[in-house]
Amino acid sequence: MGRLNFLLLTITLLLPLLLLSATAYNVGEHVPLFVNKVGPLHNPSETYQYYEMPFCRPDRILEKKETLGEVLNGDRLANALYELEFAVNKTGVVLCNRKLDRGNVAKFRAAIMNDFYYQMYYDDLPFWAFIGKIEDESWGVDGKGTKYFLFKHVQFDALYNGNQVIEIRAFGDPSHVLDVTEDVDLEVEFIYSVLWNDISTPYKNRMDRYSQTSMIPLLRKTHWFSCVNSIVVIILVMGLLTVLFMRHLKNDLRKWSVGDEEEDKEVGWKYIHGDVFRCPTNMPVFCAVLGSGTQLLTLVFALFILAFLGILYPYNRGALSTAIFAVYTLTSAVAGYSSASFYSQFVETGWQRSILLAGVLFPGPFLFTVFILNSLAIYFGVTAALPFGTIFVIFLIYTLVAIPLFALGGMVGHHYKSKFLPPSVTKKYRREIPSLAWYRKIPAQMFLGGLLPFSATVLEFHHLCATIWGYKISTLPAILFITFASLVILTAMLSVGLTFFQLAVEDHEWWWRSVLCGGSTAIFMFAYCIYFYFKSNMSGVLQTFIFFGYSACMCYAFFLMLGALSFRASLMFVRHIYRGVKSE
Ligand SMILES: *[C@@H]1O[C@H](CO)[C@@H](O)[C@H](O)[C@H]1NC(C)=O
Repeated sequence: MGRLNFLLLTITLLLPLLLLSATAYNVGEHVPLFVNKVGPLHNPSETYQYYEMPFCRPDRILEKKETLGEVLNGDRLANALYELEFAVNKTGVVLCNRKLDRGNVAKFRAAIMNDFYYQMYYDDLPFWAFIGKIEDESWGVDGKGTKYFLFKHVQFDALYNGNQVIEIRAFGDPSHVLDVTEDVDLEVEFIYSVLWNDISTPYKNRMDRYSQTSMIPLLRKTHWFSCVNSIVVIILVMGLLTVLFMRHLKNDLRKWSVGDEEEDKEVGWKYIHGDVFRCPTNMPVFCAVLGSGTQLLTLVFALFILAFLGILYPYNRGALSTAIFAVYTLTSAVAGYSSASFYSQFVETGWQRSILLAGVLFPGPFLFTVFILNSLAIYFGVTAALPFGTIFVIFLIYTLVAIPLFALGGMVGHHYKSKFLPPSVTKKYRREIPSLAWYRKIPAQMFLGGLLPFSATVLEFHHLCATIWGYKISTLPAILFITFASLVILTAMLSVGLTFFQLAVEDHEWWWRSVLCGGSTAIFMFAYCIYFYFKSNMSGVLQTFIFFGYSACMCYAFFLMLGALSFRASLMFVRHIYRGVKSE
């Protein structure tokens, strides 16, 4: 029964992603148009419902029923007075006559001052337009200074192929404007026109405009440049590691098997074979990091698969939010499994605690951030505020699906654990670590471990930030995937290198160190986010909080992912090199 419920839930969650059916219209047929939101161009998270502005409004505003993802996205679709029948040209149709009082005029002026745009959907195609324009006339004849104009006439340009809508754009007609510079009562007639033209672009390509084709060639060049950049860094690091291992490891292993006593001084890492497999301090937290990191890695790869299957594409309303939520919920089992199975290999009791920690390590801080940001969003009245019903549904799904999956994964992990067979027996007493030079201490190692992967991926990270906090999709899934793969490879290689570097000086506490070194890329990422914020035009308390809140969560997720990955790479390596030492 539980399983059936869960299946149904998954289907209802994913259904909106799968319904991509084409809609065909006859000439003159009604095509749905929804108004969505308005907001300042530079603050992507600060969006208000369309009718917060004193635009023409229908007698009854009907909100469109939305999927979870749409609500999470901050979309609030509602009906509109515009009537854009399929393939019917119209000129100068009156939308409504309206009296604007001083308050309304001031509202429009303030919005135009902040470069407000509005967004609408026509046959599920999003389009944007500015609500007014600013004219700086301080050098003009009257020298009155800046003037603010509201567009009274909206011009829609639509393209169709056969009986399907291919493209729509809207813009304000600059010759029909209303001066809203002064606080006075005004009377205004809003009008609109529609121009239909046919085009040969097939329906299935109509979304391309929002992603690939809109990328100017120059942008593509920088993308490929960033790929080459990461590959070059990978090759460099690989070369360095090869040289390091050729010089030391091979020699060391040979000497050990020959048993050349005199040369033993050089092979420090072998002396600590009794300590390298000693459990680190805070084992439950350590396993929780592994669990959450593995879960997030699975999430990222699942999202890439969905993107390659064509289910996630830019401007598929809310699909990304829905997918993240659904996949994260489902992969809870992965987190439970990996933390419990790893923990149980070392310690018999207390694995429940490691699962519990894995369950709150990421969701805890994340939900706390969301809670704070949501309270702020409600306070400012923006559409990013989640309605109570949505919060309740999310909570319900999470408790009913994610928590049982956590527990299930944990139990499976505990019962079917593989026995950890350390190649060398751990000694009873901990060996003293000799004092380390500054460049072998954790901060220096973290700096090195983070700097290289970050510098290899920084260009693409910039595009990712620009995509999240801008309007244009400025990156392709394929390139993002290559970059992410490079990040993974680099993190793993550097982790191995740095761990070996430490073992060589008899520093056997590599467990936490490898997590920190791998995760440190995320610290650089966060620093870059700060830089990005100051370079962008975002402003205001709300946008600042939302930006830093979500950026911090994203970087934290990267920290866990890369940390877990780095540890696993080091573990494989350490097991491998100490296998030869067992014979001692
Ligand atoms: C609409 O008007 C444009 C320009 O006059 C014309 O090219 C186009 O064919 C018209 N479309 C329809 C569907 O009548």
